[in-house]
Amino acid sequence: MPFALITGASTGIGKCIAEELAARDYDVLLIARSECLLKENCLSIQKKYSVSARYFAIDLAEENAAQKIYNWCQSNNYQVSILVNNAGYGLSGFFENRTCEANFDMLKVNMTTPVQLCQLFLPMLKLKPRAYILNIGSTAAYQAMPGFALYGASKSFILNFTRGLHAELKDTNISVSCVCPGATNTHFNERSELCQKAIAKGEKLSMSAEKVAQISVEGMFSGKTEVVVGLANRVGVFLSWLLPKSVSERFIMNIYKE
Ligand SMILES: NC(=O)c1ccc[n+]([C@@H]2O[C@H](COP(=O)([O-])OP(=O)(O)OC[C@H]3O[C@@H](n4cnc5c(N)ncnc54)[C@H](OP(=O)(O)O)[C@@H]3O)[C@@H](O)[C@H]2O)c1
Repeated sequence: MPFALITGASTGIGKCIAEELAARDYDVLLIARSECLLKENCLSIQKKYSVSARYFAIDLAEENAAQKIYNWCQSNNYQVSILVNNAGYGLSGFFENRTCEANFDMLKVNMTTPVQLCQLFLPMLKLKPRAYILNIGSTAAYQAMPGFALYGASKSFILNFTRGLHAELKDTNISVSCVCPGATNTHFNERSELCQKAIAKGEKLSMSAEKVAQISVEGMFSGKTEVVVGLANRVGVFLSWLLPKSVSERFIMNIYKE
């Protein structure tokens, strides 16, 4: 079986996507920084699903991270037919209160490295009978996010990049999808240092990582370009389209302002 490569597979949605794909008999390549967790996840997946599971611990904000992952696959002859760009996080609070380095590291993880991975793996994916790219976006992609501005913008980028790439590759063997979850019960809130108000709002609608992963993988295999996960999130996205931008921005600012 060809491999599915999943970034951010140590915890949360990425870990569950790896399990979903292993359950469908895919061998998996797990990428993230936490080596111990990756090792644990590999062992558990191999035992539970009788597939191969390998890991590569790397910081995706590192220079040439994508190239290092690609080289690792090449040198081990791991033939990838599914690329899942899931790793990501936010930096809550006002843009000006974060350092340039912190902001750019987040952009590398959320945008630059996923783009480089797509670029590097496309020739390999083209050789497979059927191949998939799954990029994890967010409902934050659908409007400006004052108080979480750069994160929202990074997810708008990934959504539009995905749509463009999907159209460019329409007549090929590669299907490209962007799945946009809303609040999901993972380590995201702590990593993104979300304020209590935002956490409390999200908790009411929060979905499990398992459910989000299942919907993501189903959407990817059915060739959907864009999937907003869950009815409540679809209603939220519709409202943000319907409302004047200034109204939705004031509403978001009230939630994310510390
Ligand atoms: N949870 C939500 O409410 C929510 C909502 C919408 C969209 N999303 C999106 O869903 C995706 C998955 O997030 P999650 O909710 O599952 O959060 P999570 O539990 O924090 O998982 C994030 C994953 O990304 C990895 N990661 C983060 N920074 C990294 C770095 N510099 N280098 C390598 N790997 C890194 C983490 O692993 P290590 O820490 O081990 O490196 C972890 O495996 C993200 O793209 C996020 O933006 C989440």
